[in-house]
Amino acid sequence: MFYNAAMEFDRDLNVALVRAFWPDPVPPRRGWEMLAATGVRGLRLVEETDAFEAFAFTERTPAAVAVLEQNLHESGHAGLSARAADATRPWASHVFDYVDLDPFGTPVPFIPAALDALREVGLLAVTATDMPVLTGVARRVAQVRYGAWPVRGSQGPEAGLRILIAHLVREGVARSRELTPVLGYVHDHYVRVYLSVRPWSKAPGVPLPVGDPSEVPEGPEIRGSGPFGPMWLGPLFDPGLVARLAIPRTAARPRDLGQFLDRVREESRADRPFYYEPNTLASDLHLQEPPSLAALVQAIRTEGFAVGRTHVRPSAFRTTAPRSVVQRLARGLADAR
Ligand SMILES: C[S@@+](CC[C@H](N)C(=O)[O-])C[C@H]1O[C@@H](n2cnc3c(N)ncnc32)[C@H](O)[C@@H]1O
Repeated sequence: MFYNAAMEFDRDLNVALVRAFWPDPVPPRRGWEMLAATGVRGLRLVEETDAFEAFAFTERTPAAVAVLEQNLHESGHAGLSARAADATRPWASHVFDYVDLDPFGTPVPFIPAALDALREVGLLAVTATDMPVLTGVARRVAQVRYGAWPVRGSQGPEAGLRILIAHLVREGVARSRELTPVLGYVHDHYVRVYLSVRPWSKAPGVPLPVGDPSEVPEGPEIRGSGPFGPMWLGPLFDPGLVARLAIPRTAARPRDLGQFLDRVREESRADRPFYYEPNTLASDLHLQEPPSLAALVQAIRTEGFAVGRTHVRPSAFRTTAPRSVVQRLARGLADAR
């Protein structure tokens, strides 16, 4: 009842990410799964990585707590603890290296407790499943909840991810913390991001890469009527970390994870906000047929720009090329037919 098999891919990736972020057991680390349900996520991290010497779990629903306690007991690991508690309430300050926030719906009410519980340097993982809000079906709710205007339509999920990241980054700044995404992604009915956490190191007044994506010069066009954001306009990926992600031997969905990793490695080399699609380029430029994705990607690369297909949509790509170059090449391919 509390075990969600649809999230197996997500937990496989969680294991891969923690292994790549913290490949060895020193220094001894502590993790906290704020919304634990059965505890399967945290237990997999304890069992399948070397990162943690202790792991705490909180869960509010009594029936889930009973299963959680049983699972921790049966695992036989030392250093595990379960608490039947409301995770929005503060825990002792600055005691965890890793905090995982994986709610049904919005993570917003849990973010202060998560940040306050993290040590000065650490890793924060946050999921949001309130996609109607983050993708603009409930536009005003997004403004109230995340302080941002979402994007409707096909660009909505990436915009939702970037709205969540901007919210987290600003909450970090309010606590003199610098939060940097190391992997942010859109999958099925949710978005999730891993952020490294450090004490604030930037000079006062240095602007955050947060804003309205429709104002980025020569970026992909954002459809619909704005304003949009403010949202995160910086990178979604730490390319070094992404390169080190490996499919765990224990993965429940190794094929899905392998395909995802191939794609994020590709797009991490052209990590710009939003993407282009042959179909939308064709309709914007009044081309009779969309250009071939492979031919367009090759043409952009030949001009010396970075380009990579994105995990967000199968036919879409990110690139460092300005919009005018992408449009010129798309037109050229159409003329050559
Ligand atoms: C999406 S599930 C967690 C799934 C789990 N992280 C996993 O990977 O399998 C969210 C859980 O949060 C619990 N929950 C909701 N509000 C809570 C609160 N304020 N404090 C503690 N637990 C809460 C729910 O009972 C539910 O079991």
